[in-house]
Amino acid sequence: MKKILITGGAGFIGSHVVRRFVNQYPNYHIFNLDALTYAGNLENIADIEKAPNYTFVKGDIVDAPFIDALFAEHQFDGVLHLAAESHVDRSITDPLAFVKTNVIGTMNLLNAAKTIWKDQMEGKRFYHISTDEVYGSLGAEGLFTETTAYDPNSPYSASKASSDHFVRAYGETYGLPYVLTNCSNNYGPFHFPEKLIPLFINNIIHNKPLPVYGDGKYTRDWLFVEDHAVAIDLVFHKGVNHDTYNIGGFNEWQNIDLVKLLCRIMDEKLGRPAGTSAQLITYVKDRPGHDLRYAIDATKINQELGWKPSVTFEEGLERTVNWYLDNQKWLDNVTSGAYASYYEKQYENRDS
Ligand code: NAD
Ligand code: DAU
Repeated sequence: MKKILITGGAGFIGSHVVRRFVNQYPNYHIFNLDALTYAGNLENIADIEKAPNYTFVKGDIVDAPFIDALFAEHQFDGVLHLAAESHVDRSITDPLAFVKTNVIGTMNLLNAAKTIWKDQMEGKRFYHISTDEVYGSLGAEGLFTETTAYDPNSPYSASKASSDHFVRAYGETYGLPYVLTNCSNNYGPFHFPEKLIPLFINNIIHNKPLPVYGDGKYTRDWLFVEDHAVAIDLVFHKGVNHDTYNIGGFNEWQNIDLVKLLCRIMDEKLGRPAGTSAQLITYVKDRPGHDLRYAIDATKINQELGWKPSVTFEEGLERTVNWYLDNQKWLDNVTSGAYASYYEKQYENRDS
């Protein structure tokens, strides 16, 4: 049985990837390593926590001796690395936290993989899940391709760009077998309500202002998270060694148009008169260094691996809204902080 390590599996995207791998691959044992920072929530994967091919490990990727010991003990065959500090606004107020987890943490995983795989690299794989933000900002035209030069603008994207470079460097210097993907903005269930879509859904439910940064004309390319998980599965199994793939939704939206669409859907679902939620829109001070536009050219992964998004944005957004409305307990637990006690309840007291 292959042993696969997934890092950050209690977070938003990681939880979808862990669920997919546990369910699709009974011949793998999936180890989910997560520090359970504010962004980690074991309620996200409560449905698979008792699966026989699944083990949760609480731990910090910044802790090198711990990571070395974990790799030595389990001799993982593959690593899917998603653990990260992921929120751009937080990176502006605390950049060092992003260097620690995103750069040093990634280095620790690379070193540990290099050590245990040194005599047998064949059949092994280190997969780094990264972001389109490493490419910086587009103007009105053009798309990011795999050959677009890195030009990160925020401390978050600089830390992800740095970790991407180290992954490539370990491939070139030590022959570490790796694949890397750079993906656009994800949305869907279990998204932490600090990010645009879940924050605004939560605020609309509670009649709170919707803080649109700047003039709202910033553009993002949105992808339903389950489509990202499918792409990750494909790249992990079929991606070419030492290669990079861009993943995106072919789905650009200016923030303000997206917010207005979301307001319309929410009014309908909540049975409020049309236009009610849009009154909550409030233009606020812009994010410093705010990238104007991201848009991915996902032709390569489409042509080489046959992947394309399966969910339209209208469908995905409606599914997302339905999920949040059906799971208000999840949202309440996150906003109240109650989710943080899940680990103690489910794991620390398990043997007592
Ligand atoms: P998230 O913030 O929802 O989850 C991150 C997870 O990593 C959390 O469970 C957290 O507890 C864990 N973590 C953080 N620091 C850790 C540490 N030091 N040790 C161990 N675990 C730690 O993030 P997400 O949005 O799911 O993003 C996952 C990955 O995908 C990140 O690498 C991110 O850069 C990348 N990505 C995200 C998006 C997006 O739109 N969300 C798009 C492209 C790429
Ligand atoms: O592009 C991929 C990236 O997408 C990922 O690498 C990041 O981890 C992920 O957080 C996301 O980054 P963004 O900065 O694009 O996402 P966020 O949801 O924070 O913001 C989306 C857009 O909405 C952006 O232009 C900023 C704007 N915004 C955001 C918030 C939270 C607002 O106008 N108001 C808000 O309150």
